[in-house]
Amino acid sequence: MRRIPVWALKPGMIVEKPVYDLKGRLLLNRGLELKKDYIHHLKRMDIPFIYVQDHFIPDVKVEDVILDETRARATNAVRTILEEARRQPPGSNLGLVFEQKQFEEIVDEIVDQLIDNPELMINMADIRSSDTYTFAHSVNVAVLALTIAIALGGFSRKQLTQIGSGSLLHDLGKIRIPLEILNKKGPLTREEFGRVQEHPREGYDIVSSQGILDKNAASIILQHHERTDGNGYPYHLQEEEISPLAKMVAIADVYDALTSDRPYRKGFPPHKALEIMETMGDIFDNDMLQALLGHIAAYPVGTFVQLSSGEVGIVVKNRVGFPRHPRVRIFFTGKDLEEVAPHEIDLVGREDKTVKKAFSEKEVINIIPHVFPLLKNGLGKGSKK
Ligand SMILES: [Fe+2]
Ligand SMILES: [Fe+2]
Repeated sequence: MRRIPVWALKPGMIVEKPVYDLKGRLLLNRGLELKKDYIHHLKRMDIPFIYVQDHFIPDVKVEDVILDETRARATNAVRTILEEARRQPPGSNLGLVFEQKQFEEIVDEIVDQLIDNPELMINMADIRSSDTYTFAHSVNVAVLALTIAIALGGFSRKQLTQIGSGSLLHDLGKIRIPLEILNKKGPLTREEFGRVQEHPREGYDIVSSQGILDKNAASIILQHHERTDGNGYPYHLQEEEISPLAKMVAIADVYDALTSDRPYRKGFPPHKALEIMETMGDIFDNDMLQALLGHIAAYPVGTFVQLSSGEVGIVVKNRVGFPRHPRVRIFFTGKDLEEVAPHEIDLVGREDKTVKKAFSEKEVINIIPHVFPLLKNGLGKGSKK
């Protein structure tokens, strides 16, 4: 299966990863054949990409680190809480309609699934639209922060639960920031930026006044924009003054923001985001940062890549600890991109070959001359096996 941008979808392609709507209802199920209408609908919903069956790697499944259903339920739980909180006047003590038990169950599910799969690399992006951005972002931050904690070890189950629940609500305070500021395309004025910087404190005030999270989880909300060098906000805390739980969430938050499409810029592909993160050693705890970097595939399964030898193929596997050394199924020689019998090269431990380039979908269609006709004829119904 491969991730394909919605603009490149064609009728006849087969959905491989279910698509849910804003309310967590199933929109397109796995195995469904795409029709023109569905593609239109995806465009209208502003969904950037989906996962479909692929002619080149029909046998390769991309596994998410948590179940689709869990992700959908968690996204919906965050949405319900944020929308409910938004309806309340600031300072009100009415009490959120907060299904504490249900929320805790979802956090537990995420924690359990991540503990059960420590060898899974983060290979897959969640399917989100601009409407679901904050909710999907919150779930992803929970997944990434917990990945760091589980990889490092030494955190109790209670702490893992606090990381999960604090992450899911880390941006709760944004409900108090006008949407014109949050969705602004250009750079923020000083005043607007000052307003944005209030969201950790506002979120913290909401959960504290309503007593919906314990102290450690609430501190994640308050401190997720603090940086170890003291240049964060709101309190410019440094090093040990920042809770370790908030430090992990801070790293997760930045990585997820870098890889997402925002109103003012397109998201970076994982290999670029990793490069950017690697230079951020002084503002984050380095062990925590390394723990995350080891779990994120720079070239996720399904990415077309060119090796230093010139050969072109598709990533079929990634291994924890080797984010830049995927296993690649080669389809084209380096010379004139001639088609060869598919064979696989594992880059772990190879010093003679590295990934030189990752192709965007536009490049796949435009630059690799063989690929487009193959994709056009080879996908969906009657695909060549
Ligand atoms: Fe934030
Ligand atoms: Fe965030």
